[in-house]
Amino acid sequence: MKKTFLFVATTFSIGLAAIITSCNPDPKLDCSTYNSTYNTNMKAIIDAKCVTCHKAGGSAESLGIYSTYAQMKPNFSKAWTEVDAGRMPQSGSPKLTDKEKEAFECWKNGGFKE
Ligand code: HEC
Repeated sequence: MKKTFLFVATTFSIGLAAIITSCNPDPKLDCSTYNSTYNTNMKAIIDAKCVTCHKAGGSAESLGIYSTYAQMKPNFSKAWTEVDAGRMPQSGSPKLTDKEKEAFECWKNGGFKE
């Protein structure tokens, strides 16, 4: 009887912990201390990790050119979907670090400041 109770209690706790963890989107993200703008940080990240291919004359030219603010802003949602899913940068190219992904998210949260 005692064993059954322990088993149920343990299973319940593990389940609860799993639910809490999966519902918490990103505990590290705090955009209030991170003023992400295109010129202060986004451009450097995009130039280093995307523009090698996504530029005029690059291998991904037809899929989006991200060389300037005006080119990046309207493509943000598509770009973030690919980055967040881990599909971009293309395999073989350096991935974005957590900090760089934060810059993307905070740029969006801040309303795409230039
Ligand atoms: C090594 C070259 C390369 C790099 C670096 C790269 N891409 Fe791509 N990207 C491609 C190619 C090639 C495709 C098309 C084939 C595919 O989807 O895999 C593509 C497709 C995409 C698409 C899909 C476009 C569509 O309409 O379906 C998006 C969005 C995208 N890339 C965003 C990015 C972002 C954002 C970065 C930087 C964080 C990045 N890519 C870095 C080569 C690259």
